[in-house]
Amino acid sequence: MAPSDYDEGFVVKPGSAGAGAEPRWKLFAAGDYGPSSGGNALEGSGKSQGILSGGLADRINKGDLAIVNLEAPLKLDSKGIRKVGPSLGTDERALSVMKEAGFSAVGLANNHFMDNGYDSAVATQDYCRQLGMKTCGFGDNIREALKPVFFDIQNIRVGVLSLCEMEFGVADADNPGTAWVSDPLAESAVVNTKKEVDVLIVLAHGGIERVPLPPASRKIQLRNIVNHGADIVVGHHPHVPQGWEKYEGGYIFYSLGNFFLDYGEGRKYPKTDWGITLEVEFVNNEVDGICILPIERMNGSVDFMKRESALAAGWRKYLSRCSEVVSDDLLFRRYWNELAVELIKKKYEPYFSAAFFCPVNEKLSRRILWHLKNLVKESGRLVRYGNGEMRTMDDLVMLNLIRNESARGAIVTGLKERSGGLGKENSSPGEDLRGLMEWTGP
Ligand SMILES: [Fe+2]
Repeated sequence: MAPSDYDEGFVVKPGSAGAGAEPRWKLFAAGDYGPSSGGNALEGSGKSQGILSGGLADRINKGDLAIVNLEAPLKLDSKGIRKVGPSLGTDERALSVMKEAGFSAVGLANNHFMDNGYDSAVATQDYCRQLGMKTCGFGDNIREALKPVFFDIQNIRVGVLSLCEMEFGVADADNPGTAWVSDPLAESAVVNTKKEVDVLIVLAHGGIERVPLPPASRKIQLRNIVNHGADIVVGHHPHVPQGWEKYEGGYIFYSLGNFFLDYGEGRKYPKTDWGITLEVEFVNNEVDGICILPIERMNGSVDFMKRESALAAGWRKYLSRCSEVVSDDLLFRRYWNELAVELIKKKYEPYFSAAFFCPVNEKLSRRILWHLKNLVKESGRLVRYGNGEMRTMDDLVMLNLIRNESARGAIVTGLKERSGGLGKENSSPGEDLRGLMEWTGP
């Protein structure tokens, strides 16, 4: 297919250094990657042509440094960690595909990397390294997990750190796991890495899934990473693209969305089949140009978005509006407050009403409705796990909601807003916000 058949993307910062300026080098960044081993995505393909188009791999290979977030660890026979929510797992072919596609740095700090336990995490890290890719974001304790990886590109030293919000599997002083972004040592990891490099790229995994905006707390968190020295912050986890902003001397991309991720267990989220990738051109240690290139997964393969795609007509407008909102503090506050109320209603209230046996409200408790809809599945779980274990699962859900930075931020904002605590001085963004949400969920 000729290049002109593809959507040529969106230029955030056009090059201004001039054609002769050098040394010139290119970074490619992609979001969440995790083809499930249980599905058929990898069947018949150990090669990138199976799940990644050749054109995509060609372009990634042209970069000097290509980074991706590996969301699914290898699925071994080892026991997984105690958690709630889906457990992801992949096999060696998926890691070979990353290598063939041209990725040289792999971020491991995310909420799934410990899904299959310590042995699987170590085996995944080792296999990536065996293939020649550098990894960061996981370690035998938090100090190890916070170690950066370095690349020397035409005398420019580049550091990459991979950090994630609190969920199941983060490391601490004595236990292995992923690099927690809010650990007291994380800030000095950013500051100290910047002292050693010309350019610092930080992968930041967090936010709320399938919504168009980051929580206010995440905005502060990622801006702080720039304050401490990052040149580019690459966000992921929401599985849909969110906006970007230029903040102080850095660029923050709140979420790239999925690169290639299937959820296993038959889960389907059609609005997560597209995402964005970044091609950042540097001259020395300065960003000269950034191109946002949309990608789309169709028929089990991801490729740059084609002009004929149904999404091609609208994705720029969606992303531009998200970016306008996120980079304007007052506007953002209005949108985020309203989105947080929506999240309370649709996402968090059912959990709370189950865990704390809240009385039936409105027509029917959403949790009861949810139980009725899932009667067979829920009965099966009750038989399989027993009442005590189901109670424990509810406890784990609550634990995760309270300790995760973004969930807690959404719950606090949503409850304050709904109870009138934040005041109503501004008009509601209503329709515009709903238009953005059409792009992301459920
Ligand atoms: Fe994630």
